[in-house]
Amino acid sequence: MPIFLYYLLLISELIILLCVSIYGMALVFSTLKGAPYVPTSKKQLGRIFDVVKPKRKAFFIELGSGDGRIIRFAAKKYGVVGEGVEVNVLLNFFARFFARREKVDKQISFISKNIFAYDCKKADYVYLFLMPQLIIKLLPFFKKQLRKNTIIISHGFKLPGWEKKMFHTLPDKAFSTYYYKM
Ligand SMILES: C[S@@+](CC[C@H](N)C(=O)[O-])C[C@H]1O[C@@H](n2cnc3c(N)ncnc32)[C@H](O)[C@@H]1O
Repeated sequence: MPIFLYYLLLISELIILLCVSIYGMALVFSTLKGAPYVPTSKKQLGRIFDVVKPKRKAFFIELGSGDGRIIRFAAKKYGVVGEGVEVNVLLNFFARFFARREKVDKQISFISKNIFAYDCKKADYVYLFLMPQLIIKLLPFFKKQLRKNTIIISHGFKLPGWEKKMFHTLPDKAFSTYYYKM
C-alpha cells in the first residue's frame, strides 16, 4: 500500500473516532442533565401536530429541543415562530445548521440553556419529551409562567396530577403523546 494511502486511512479513522467520542460524550452529558437524547420519531410528527394545528406566528417553545426537529417541523408546516431550549451545545449546533438549511432560521432560534433557567411566559405552545423526574420539577414553573390557554404537548410521559387539564391523548406503541391546556 502506498504510504500516503496508509496515512489517509489512519487520519480518516482518527477523525471518525474523534466524532464518535464527541457524540458519545454529548449523549452522556444530556443524560446527566436529566434526559437522554432520544429524538421523537419523525414518523409521528404529522400525527402529533394534526391534533393542535398551531396558528401561524404562534409562539412555540420546545424544552430540551435536541436536533430541533419538532420546532423546525412546526415552523415549516405551520409557520410558527419560537425557541428551542437545549442544554447540549452540540445538539444545538446541529439544530441551527438544519434550521438554516431548511430556511426557517429567521423564524426560530435555539438557546443553549438549562430549561430551569428559561422563562416560558411567551409560549402559546410548549413541547417536551423529558423524563418524569424532570417533568415533576417543571410543573411549578409552568404554573407560575404559562398564560391561560397555553397548550402543553408532552410526548412520552404524562404531567402527574394534571389530569383535569388534559384534553387529548394520542396513543402509540412506543411513546404516546399527552395534550394539556392551561
Ligand atoms: C428525549 S430528548 C428529546 C429531544 C427532542 N425534544 C425530540 O423530541 O426529538 C431530551 C432532550 O432534552 C435535553 N435536556 C435534558 N435535560 C435538559 C435540561 N435540564 N435543560 C435543557 N435541555 C435538557 C437533552 O439534551 C435532550 O436533547
